Amino acid sequence: MIPVILSGGSGTRLWPLSRAKKPKQFLPLLNDKSMLQNTILRLKGLAGLQPPMVICNEDHRFMVAEQLRELSTGQPTIMLEPVGRNTAPAIAVAAMQAIADGDDPLLLVLAADHAIKDIPAFHRAVELAAPAARQGKLVTFGIVPTSAHTGYGYIRRADIADSALPTEVAAVAKFCEKPDLATAKQFVDSGEYFWNSGMFLFKASSFIAELKQFAPAIIRAAELALTNAARDLDFIRLDKAAFSACPSDSIDYAVMEKSANTAMVALDAGWSDVGSWDALWEVMAKDEQGNACRGDVLLEQCKNSYVNAEERLVAVIGLDDVVVVETKDAVLVASKTHIQGVKNIVAKLQSYG
Ligand code: GDD
Ligand code: MG
Repeated sequence: MIPVILSGGSGTRLWPLSRAKKPKQFLPLLNDKSMLQNTILRLKGLAGLQPPMVICNEDHRFMVAEQLRELSTGQPTIMLEPVGRNTAPAIAVAAMQAIADGDDPLLLVLAADHAIKDIPAFHRAVELAAPAARQGKLVTFGIVPTSAHTGYGYIRRADIADSALPTEVAAVAKFCEKPDLATAKQFVDSGEYFWNSGMFLFKASSFIAELKQFAPAIIRAAELALTNAARDLDFIRLDKAAFSACPSDSIDYAVMEKSANTAMVALDAGWSDVGSWDALWEVMAKDEQGNACRGDVLLEQCKNSYVNAEERLVAVIGLDDVVVVETKDAVLVASKTHIQGVKNIVAKLQSYG
């Protein structure tokens, strides 16, 4: 089993810490290891694990190589994208490379920016999924939803058990990526839907076969980008012209919504997509007043707040439910309930160039 770690996201909702030069997956947000490093470390103990493949933007190659070296994972494969084309092309080139390397392994596709509290439960779910993946299924891990979040995929399990699958693995009756709020509410109220965790297990060839059917243009561009890739000891640099010409799409829209060959294992492991400051606050250890702090921070009469001091001492007095993030060149002060406004600030900054 090869872990395929998608590390090409921009993480803009964690501005001002997450920047184009160093997006959130490369930052030590939860402990002293980066999100990417934690993603790899939490796999330790899984049976049949091979060294990871990491797919990232070429600008981040040295950071990725250095972070992997610190973990001594065995010889990892680092694939470099000249531009981001979302997750379907990234997984396609990984699957093709895995097959070219000699056989048709199981790929455990992981986002580089998730937090998982109960690692043994996560391992059990992966082990439950493995026989179905070997049978040719694209297995996803479903999370019991706690809100009508519109940034996630939603999965409905088939009512009738599939006798060809182990009992813990259900066929997927419907997969709906990022529904609007009213639909998400309906899904959650029905009690029939799970969130898609964004982690998948399948054979390399199973993914390629589905993508060939539903997005042949991605397959063609990915094949060319890999054939014409430049290779050296450390990196596989995908061909710029071919990869730039690839359609941009996520695995969720391109394959999971369309394929009839999908299955789901429920995952109850304290999973969280650390997508925003309030989500990070949720998963961090807190003091008795519910405050989560990093760095040199002094608080007086504050509750349920997240305060991160990178460079200077930060003192906060008499504020509840706030996010304060101090960095060398920018400071964010926001109420937790308005934290989604960070993306508007980032958009403004980008429009100033
Ligand atoms: N290599 C590479 N190239 N990686 C990418 C790219 C890309 O172009 N775009 C995104 N990624 C990486 C991100 O860094 C992250 O680790 C992972 O792929 C998922 O991308 P997101 O952009 O964070 O996806 P999402 O959160 O909107 O949606 C996905 O995850 C949700 C759960 O967190 C979907 O799978 C949803 O269905 C799911 O619910
Ligand atoms: Mg995400």
